[in-house]
Order: sequence, then C-alpha cells, then structure tokens
Amino acid sequence: MTKTVSLIGAGSRGRYTYSPYAKQHPDEMKITAVAELRPDVLADYGEEYGIPEERRFPSAEEFFRQDKMSDFAFICTQDGQHKKHAIMALEKGYDLLLEKPMAISLEDCRAITEKANQTGRAVVVCHVLRYTPFYAKIKEVLESGRIGSVVDLHQCENVGYWHYAHSYIRGNWRKESESSPMILAKCCHDLDILYWLAGKKCRAVSSFGSLKYFNEKSAPEGAGKRCLDGSCRIKGECPFDAEKIYIGSPVTGVRVNQSWPVNVLSLDLTEDGIRRALEEGPYGRCVFACDNDVVDHQIVNMDFEDGVTASLTMCGFTSQVNREIKVMCTGGELTADMVSGKIHVTPFGKETETIVINDEYDALNGHGGGDHMLVEEMMHTDMDKLSSMSTNINDSLHSHLMAFAAEMSRKQGGKPVSISSLY
Ligand SMILES: NC(=O)c1ccc[n+]([C@@H]2O[C@H](COP(=O)([O-])OP(=O)(O)OC[C@H]3O[C@@H](n4cnc5c(N)ncnc54)[C@H](O)[C@@H]3O)[C@@H](O)[C@H]2O)c1
Repeated sequence: MTKTVSLIGAGSRGRYTYSPYAKQHPDEMKITAVAELRPDVLADYGEEYGIPEERRFPSAEEFFRQDKMSDFAFICTQDGQHKKHAIMALEKGYDLLLEKPMAISLEDCRAITEKANQTGRAVVVCHVLRYTPFYAKIKEVLESGRIGSVVDLHQCENVGYWHYAHSYIRGNWRKESESSPMILAKCCHDLDILYWLAGKKCRAVSSFGSLKYFNEKSAPEGAGKRCLDGSCRIKGECPFDAEKIYIGSPVTGVRVNQSWPVNVLSLDLTEDGIRRALEEGPYGRCVFACDNDVVDHQIVNMDFEDGVTASLTMCGFTSQVNREIKVMCTGGELTADMVSGKIHVTPFGKETETIVINDEYDALNGHGGGDHMLVEEMMHTDMDKLSSMSTNINDSLHSHLMAFAAEMSRKQGGKPVSISSLY
C-alpha cells in the first residue's frame, strides 16, 4: 500500500535527500502536502511533486492548523524548530520521520520522547548510519561472535576541511546559539553508532575540544574579509577559498556538481548563479572572518555497561570526508573506513578477511546509502511496528543524552558526566 507523506521544510534534506524516494518508488510513497517558508521553493517543490495548490502551506504552523492529511510528517526544518514541529505533529496524530538532532536541548529531547510515548505515535530519528550496508555489516560481524565480544571501540569522524568550512564556519551550523553544539549537530551520528555497536548502555562520558583555528586571531597575513571581493592577497594558496570549493573543485564545484554542497547556496545552479551567491551571501566569507563559535576538534571518551569503552575523535582538519572505525574484541579486531567501504576482520592468529561493502553507494552524499535505506525501511514496515525500528525515539534519546553529556563535560574541562543523571 502506498504511504502518504507531508513534508515539513523543503530544504536540503527534505527536498533532495528524502523526497526522491517518492519518485523512485511511487507505489510505496507519495508526497501529498508540503509546508515551506520560502515561497519560491514552495512553488517549485509543489510543481516538482505534483502537489495541488491547496496542499502547499507557507509554514509548518499553518500546516498543523489543518486536520491530519497523511500517514507521516517528515520534519526536516532546522534543529531549533524540531521540538515545536514534532510536538505539533504528534498532537495531530502523525507518525514522524524526525531529522537529527531530535532537538537542541536535553529538555526538548525529553519532551518529544514523552509526547511520542504518550500519544503512541512512532518517531523515527534520522540516525541514518545504522541503515548503511557498511555499519550493518560491522554490526553483523560483531554479533556473530567470530572475533569474540567487544571490549573497546574507536571512531574517527574526519569532517573534511571544505565540509567543515561549508557547514560549521560559513553555514547553518556555525553558531551554537542558532543551531546546536558540534558534538550534537555532527556527532550524534557517531555517538549513536558507537552505542549501537557496543550493544550496551553508556554510563558516563568525558570530553575535551575547542575552536582552535578558525577565528580572527589565526588569520594569515594578507587574508581579506571575503574571497571574491579582491581584498584577499593569499587566495591562490588558501585551501578554504570559496571560489575553489564551490566553483573550481573537481569534486564539489558547480562545474561538475549540481547537488550538495552547491545546492545550498542558490536555486540557480549555473556558474554565474553560484558566483553571485558567493559575492553576496554567507558562503563567500573568509573562514577567518565569520561569526562561527562551534569547536573545530573534539574528543569524547565513553564508559559503557560491562566495562566496554569507546572513544570518538571529531576533527575538521582532514583532507577526506570519511569515518574510520576500529573495534577491539576479545578474540580479534576489526578496522574499517566508509570511503573505501573496506572492513578488515582479523581473528587473533588468523588471516585478515577483507569485506568490501559499498561500491554502489555514494559514501559522501547519501551517507553511504543510509539516507535511502532509512526511508525504505519506513515504507516497508507496518505502521503499527514503526516504533520497533532501530532508530526509535527511546534509543535515540539515549545517544542524544551522550552528546549533551559530552558537551557538559567539555565545558567543565573534561569532568566525567554520568548519563543516568540526565534521564
Ligand atoms: N540526518 C543527517 O545526516 C543530516 C544531515 C544534514 C542535516 N540534517 C538535519 O536536517 C535538518 C534540515 O537541514 P537542511 O540542511 O535540510 O536545512 P535547510 O535549511 O536546507 O532546510 C530547512 C527548510 O525548512 C524551511 N523552514 C524553516 N522554517 C520553517 C517553517 N516554520 N515552516 C516550514 N518550513 C520552514 C526552510 O525554509 C528550509 O527550506 C536540520 O535539523 C539538520 O541538522 C541531518
């Protein structure tokens, strides 16, 4: 049976990540209403998905004044709006896809969880990594017991210098007060995966990190205020130059790429359109002259039940955008990275087996296939079983609490914070 969806927020994620499933599988998912603040995007999206005028709403607030009109509401607005929109949706009786982070404060995450449990509606949180063939295979290897039981895990979140500049210096997640701390915005995925793979509840965390480099005092001599206004004398050698990232880059530049990250800058995806956005908008600012305050590197130590430990390194100073993981078990070890899609499994005293996973998935844009597979699982799961999906609200709350605890610890100079104290 076709399931119907109302999209709340037709931005980067709502429009380009989750909606395409409806085009690929029209017999499974149909988008029947949309709420979007930007009139041009609302009209454009409405046309693209054949949504009648009377089901195109200029805001989420206006949409939720109507009676329930679909099976799901996909909440894809910005971090600070999730609580309000999720609570309104649950009160109207929708089952939800809720973008991560669930919300930007501990209290708000708890409020959504309570409302979901009280209304009996499902909230599927977009911890998409759990749905990737890459992490699913790692989980399968660990659960098989062939390298014993998990003792310690280490994950490295290599954010990538240009991705870091795009999202966390120039873009939407640069300021804690307007979005959320980096460890929540970016790393709730990593903490959630470590929790899932450890297979135990987390008892306590400690954390260190800071905004070390991307601030005015680190600006190299000759740096300007914007990349395209002629004021910068080091543009040629600067890797963060906006023109290199958004126009000339053979990976991300508009000459070869029409999707993320350039589609965040403008609806006009021509070279002229992107150049104009860089000349006028926030993405053309020098990385040393922005109003960013989130950390550029952070580490988190975790203590799980049964003496299992884990550590996470998040760092903006990496050439690749990649996640690497090492899991040390009583009978062997596993190392893997998402870009190569290679998982090396070495039982002690035996040959290493290499499993290659994700040739067919786009490890960069689609979160290694996880974005697509999360929606697929929602469409394939009976409506009354949605709450038992892996990324259900109660499990997601636990990993969000780990992120809040990490941030509390970082702000207290690394003092351990117990998770149970936050419930
Ligand atoms: N799961 C993941 O891996 C992942 C990755 C990136 C971003 N995200 C999260 O997804 C969410 C959306 O991110 P994005 O990059 O798509 O942002 P975005 O800014 O591109 O999209 C948000 C959209 O919501 C619209 N909007 C704002 N207020 C509204 C309102 N009151 N009513 C209706 N529409 C409204 C905006 O106009 C915009 O189009 C964020 O919470 C972000 O943190 C998740």
